[in-house]
Amino acid sequence: MSIVDSAKAAAQGAAQAVMTKAIALAPDGWIPGGTPDPLIRGKHGLIGAPISRIDGPLKVQGKAKFAAEFPLEAMLYAAVAFSTVPKGRIATLDTKAAEAAPGVVLVMTYRNAPRMKNMPVFMSGAKAAGGDNLPIMQDDRVHWNGQPIAVVLAESQEQADHAKSLILASYEEEAAVTAFAEAKARGTDIGMFQGQPLKLAIGDAEAALAAAPVSIDSAYTTPRHNHNAIEPHAATLAWRGDALMVHDASQAVAHMAWSLASIFGLDETQVHVTSPYVGGGFGAKTLWQHQVLGAAAARLAGRPVRIALSREGVYRMVGGRSLTEQRVAIGAAADGRFTAIIHTGTVAMTRHNALPEPFILPTRGAYAAGSFKLDVEVAYMDTLANTFMRAPGEAVGTFALECAVDELAAKLGMDPIELRIRNEPEKDPTEGLPFSSRNIVQAWRAGAERFGWSKRSASPGAVRDGEWLVGLGCATATYPYYRMPGGAARITLTKDGRARVDIAAHEMGMGTATVQTQVAATRLGLPMEQVSFGYGDSIMPGVVLAGGSQQTASIGASVMAAHHALTVELLKLAGNDSVLAGLRADEVVGVDGGLAKLDEPARHESYTSILARARRDEVVVEAAAPAPMETQHWSMHSYGAMFCEARVNAVTGETRISRFLGSFDCGRILNAKTASSQFRGGIIMGLGLALMEETQLDERRGRIMNPSLAEYHLPVHLDVPEIDVIWTDIADPHTPMGAHGIGEIGITGTGAAVANAVFNATGKRIRDLPLTLDKLM
Ligand code: MOS
Repeated sequence: MSIVDSAKAAAQGAAQAVMTKAIALAPDGWIPGGTPDPLIRGKHGLIGAPISRIDGPLKVQGKAKFAAEFPLEAMLYAAVAFSTVPKGRIATLDTKAAEAAPGVVLVMTYRNAPRMKNMPVFMSGAKAAGGDNLPIMQDDRVHWNGQPIAVVLAESQEQADHAKSLILASYEEEAAVTAFAEAKARGTDIGMFQGQPLKLAIGDAEAALAAAPVSIDSAYTTPRHNHNAIEPHAATLAWRGDALMVHDASQAVAHMAWSLASIFGLDETQVHVTSPYVGGGFGAKTLWQHQVLGAAAARLAGRPVRIALSREGVYRMVGGRSLTEQRVAIGAAADGRFTAIIHTGTVAMTRHNALPEPFILPTRGAYAAGSFKLDVEVAYMDTLANTFMRAPGEAVGTFALECAVDELAAKLGMDPIELRIRNEPEKDPTEGLPFSSRNIVQAWRAGAERFGWSKRSASPGAVRDGEWLVGLGCATATYPYYRMPGGAARITLTKDGRARVDIAAHEMGMGTATVQTQVAATRLGLPMEQVSFGYGDSIMPGVVLAGGSQQTASIGASVMAAHHALTVELLKLAGNDSVLAGLRADEVVGVDGGLAKLDEPARHESYTSILARARRDEVVVEAAAPAPMETQHWSMHSYGAMFCEARVNAVTGETRISRFLGSFDCGRILNAKTASSQFRGGIIMGLGLALMEETQLDERRGRIMNPSLAEYHLPVHLDVPEIDVIWTDIADPHTPMGAHGIGEIGITGTGAAVANAVFNATGKRIRDLPLTLDKLM
């Protein structure tokens, strides 16, 4: 950074700090959400109804087309060859046999790949979607073990896969940092997340810890994790002149279009990305080198290309969650009140990505404490870029924090739920902001009652059922409420009283299409059958990321803005001959197929009547959501209380989860059925994190050794008990629909609830994930 840049950055930082303060202190009415969404008025319409997924029938019939299922004319199939060294130069690359193999059209390497810019790495710009910012087949350099070195295009997938196996490469290796200990020894940096350092100090936490009558100070470790969505990454790509069409599996279609345009030197309108169905995203269905290589190879061949990664391909090319080493120390008064919380540690990262696994995030708001010391340090390794993976930060951060709280409860001889409730903050403990809506104590009480917590034995190892030691554990779940800038939506209302809402949003299996149709129908006062929800297409309005559990908020605020514009337009069209004459947009609501005065339902005119009198076939409006200032005005989070019953075999060390309950406080729940599934899905992923998930990186060669579902273990049906979920269903008056995000909360707290149950069962405190049987023998 030059001096001028530093001065600019400092000035920007100061301006931002002033802005943040101003937003915090502004009257509620100036802030989005200051006036509650009109949809929050008791139970009405379809909000909360357990409606089955509207895409369900298409999926079970195989009629929902995923990214690798678009059959384009003259399409070629791609296979990717990967480097086998962590760092250096390609010395020789023999593609002759591959080129001569049956069905092969071309082999693309750094020697013939088109010139391209590097991927804009995620968070480096509003629409940047890249997993790393390395050059893609632009030179002979190798940056990680598994980097693509060649792409084969052939007439069939089998021919491409076979030809790929004939490619011979040799390397001039260079020294690489592939061991975490070496990376740490070379020095660490402070992690930067969303432009802010992952570092926070309030008071002198070390002194308070030393002075505390009761304290714990423990080290926790969590391994690397890889993404294993049911649908491996894939894209089908075609050029028409300088326009690029991409059928992708994406959680960010607008980001994808912009990022690909920047790589190929195009205008973003020249790139059209669709993604109607996605078989799971979890943070990884963004831009990785396969889409770029697919587009480059399609351009080279002059034919469309389908690039569908093998499961191994996903491990080689798509990043996962990084490893963490965490210290949590808590000091408490004799009555359990926290005087100090210290949460520090180191994560592995690469120099070509920008996500230091931010494990301190949950600790910023979970508990009141007299002092805080939070810090994430980054050690750099020469590996595949790590990335976002369901609740990045919170998933592993709550493992350490919530195990530590359990350890302290044991030391104090206090019930762990009572200890948590005793430290419940009145306002955000580190930001000082009021909570928009926080009913976690209610979630704890309801969950404890339903789970039968009072039957838990306080002394570990006390309950035995034959060979099985049985224990109960609990943990807090927490994840921030985000709403990212850029949301916008279009509503088209036609004279037959039907409406269509279009927004560049995503359905990755969580129920977006269903829930948003429900919400739009309720907002418009139409039956669900008369409303359609268009999404998954970059030509639609809005920059909407299906990530950070914020898509529902982003869509909600965008549709509210568009609906307001529609109401204004309809009142104008209704004119003086309508019973609605003289009313303002904020005085009417959508009900019974038209508009009515909020407290005077008789003053109602139907949409068909308004459009007919105005001689209009349709009304089309588009509007942008306001800037998300509410997240700087209130402290906003989703919450949960997690309960686990674990059975540990005293002979084999095997752990079985026999019962699990998630008791959530996530604002208003919009669809009881799809929400239950999302909560359960998150918890199941959390059970995997607790018991089995672990990427094995060979620290000598930097190569992932278990790149398959045979060797990377995930929970299967027999690993998962019936999971019970309940929720408070208390609307947050400051969010669209009163809802909070629910995509990531389920994986948070789950690891600790399991580890705490295992401790209660066995008396063994395992601080290193996953909790495999060797650690319990
Ligand atoms: Mo999520 S890790 O924000 O898709």
